[in-house]
Amino acid sequence: MNILVLGSGGREHALVWAIKQNPKCDRLIAAPGNAGMAQIADCANIDPCDTDAVLALCAENAIDFVVIGPEAPLAAGVADRLRAQGYLTFGPSAAAAKLESSKAFTKEICDACDAPTAKYARFTDLDAAKAYVRAQGAPIVVKADGLAAGKGVIVAMTLDEAYAGLEDIFGGAFGAAGTEVVIEEFMEGEEASLFILSDGANIAAVGGAQDHKRVGEGDTGPNTGGMGAYSPAPVLTPEIEAIAIDTIIKPTVAEMARQGTPFQGVLYAGLMIKDGQPRLVEYNVRFGDPECQVLMLRLGGQILDLLLACAEGRLDQVQPNWADDVAMTVVLAANGYPGTYKKGTQINGLDALPNTSDQVVFHAGTAAKDGAIIATGGRVLNVTARGATLQDAQRRAYDMVDAIDWPDGFCRRDIGWRAL
Ligand code: AMP
Ligand code: GLY
Repeated sequence: MNILVLGSGGREHALVWAIKQNPKCDRLIAAPGNAGMAQIADCANIDPCDTDAVLALCAENAIDFVVIGPEAPLAAGVADRLRAQGYLTFGPSAAAAKLESSKAFTKEICDACDAPTAKYARFTDLDAAKAYVRAQGAPIVVKADGLAAGKGVIVAMTLDEAYAGLEDIFGGAFGAAGTEVVIEEFMEGEEASLFILSDGANIAAVGGAQDHKRVGEGDTGPNTGGMGAYSPAPVLTPEIEAIAIDTIIKPTVAEMARQGTPFQGVLYAGLMIKDGQPRLVEYNVRFGDPECQVLMLRLGGQILDLLLACAEGRLDQVQPNWADDVAMTVVLAANGYPGTYKKGTQINGLDALPNTSDQVVFHAGTAAKDGAIIATGGRVLNVTARGATLQDAQRRAYDMVDAIDWPDGFCRRDIGWRAL
């Protein structure tokens, strides 16, 4: 079959890499893709949020199946339009994508199905929000309601930080995403991510992972999109995963169906785990980036069968097969990230690296120029490896990192430390 993957990050490179291994895959197109994807698929330079361009690409290339990677096209309704035109599509409708695009909506769903999560209140008025914060005390968490590229959450350790966060949000720092705020109880515990495919009625768990959001070693410094990840996450034991599925995931999927907006795609549940009990921090409606990279290394080509079963509503008939191993990915980012950084710097040494089912470098922000690979974004490469143990995976990943010649980039040297 002919398959189109929408997106341009490391997540989509990992999806393309895994899908390509499945014999059902004939032609594979990534749009817009990047230099890494261009080595194993055709790339079409279109905006994945431009539905007309996506539909034209599908028609021109007799596409049989579309996999949507990032949240922006989902929130923009690209999956709805594709399905309306008869294209088999992996990814939720805009209505179901509200589980990511509106934090207040997710809280309503949790209320309706009794899923454990932080206590909260919603505000559209700065003074009322401040009064609530004052009454609750710190620490407290302030969130812009809408999509804010991961930057709309302020975990405030003091009242002043919370007030400043509210002023930023209501002052327009996040545009329309900040017309409403959700203020939440601060939850203590350890975080892990759980990935669950849902076809609207049935679910299939496709693994857990832990990422490292802070830019600095020891989880210090500003938040980023993620500096590395590993799977499985030891904190997410089979018992805790089962509790999360029973008390959070299944009730959410059932409530979404009951409301007439069934969720079809991958539910990425951010969990806070304390004393053996998971609570929901947030949902995303797509794979995590870089969590997807470690999941794809562990799942390989079967991911296509799983995504197809999800899109066709027959997840009850499939069962993911896991090798009993561990995968890790280390993000190489441009010096300065998550602040300002240079673009266009050259990366050498990639050709000599292993490229196997156990060790692979996924590209995020890269392009090919005059036969060289150059950096075009903040997070640039995801150096990914697996092994029998986390130590093995870590050693193999950092061996590759050390062989990459890119003076303008950096990585954290401690990915996996919590689990080790
Ligand atoms: P979110 O974008 O909702 O995932 O929030 C980003 C990060 O903020 C999460 O990964 C947590 O580390 C933290 N966070 C969000 N909500 C809470 C909460 N209620 N309690 C503690 N930490 C939180
Ligand atoms: N790695 C965090 C995210 O994908 O949202």
